[in-house]
Amino acid sequence: MGKFLAGFIIGAVVLAGGVYVYIHYGFLDMRADRASGRWERACMNGALDRYAERYGPQVRNPLEPTDATLIEGIALYKADCAGCHGGPDNPVSELGLGFNPPAPQFLRAAPGIPGNQNYWIIRHGVRMR
Ligand code: HEC
Repeated sequence: MGKFLAGFIIGAVVLAGGVYVYIHYGFLDMRADRASGRWERACMNGALDRYAERYGPQVRNPLEPTDATLIEGIALYKADCAGCHGGPDNPVSELGLGFNPPAPQFLRAAPGIPGNQNYWIIRHGVRMR
């Protein structure tokens, strides 16, 4: 049992060291003009979903969906978001599609996650993707 445990620990340390060397010494492909690999997408998309579920605060939207707040929200969206996510004047944003990963086009498909998780993502942004 002791030898198995020692072997397991040594194996884990060697594996972690190998991953560190691979990434730290520049073997990881960092080009943003190529699509992410399947493993990277699966891992990081899942990570973002679980992260938003875990940390999205259980708070209620303090703004009621009145005509006034919705009109103000539309103006804010057009000014700050539509350039990348698409709006009435540019339903599909070429600029947004040029990012890696591409900006989701919200006029085609609204975000399908609960409002509190959307709030958390918009409030803090997302890194490492
Ligand atoms: C400069 C371009 C740009 C602007 C401006 C921008 N975004 Fe984004 N946004 C992106 C990109 C690119 C992604 C995809 C990031 C990713 O998948 O990791 C994204 C992702 C998102 C997501 C996550 C969608 C998902 O995958 O669940 C939300 C929500 C979002 N943006 C909301 C907004 C809002 C609200 C605004 C305006 C206040 C805004 N964005 C402005 C580029 C932009």
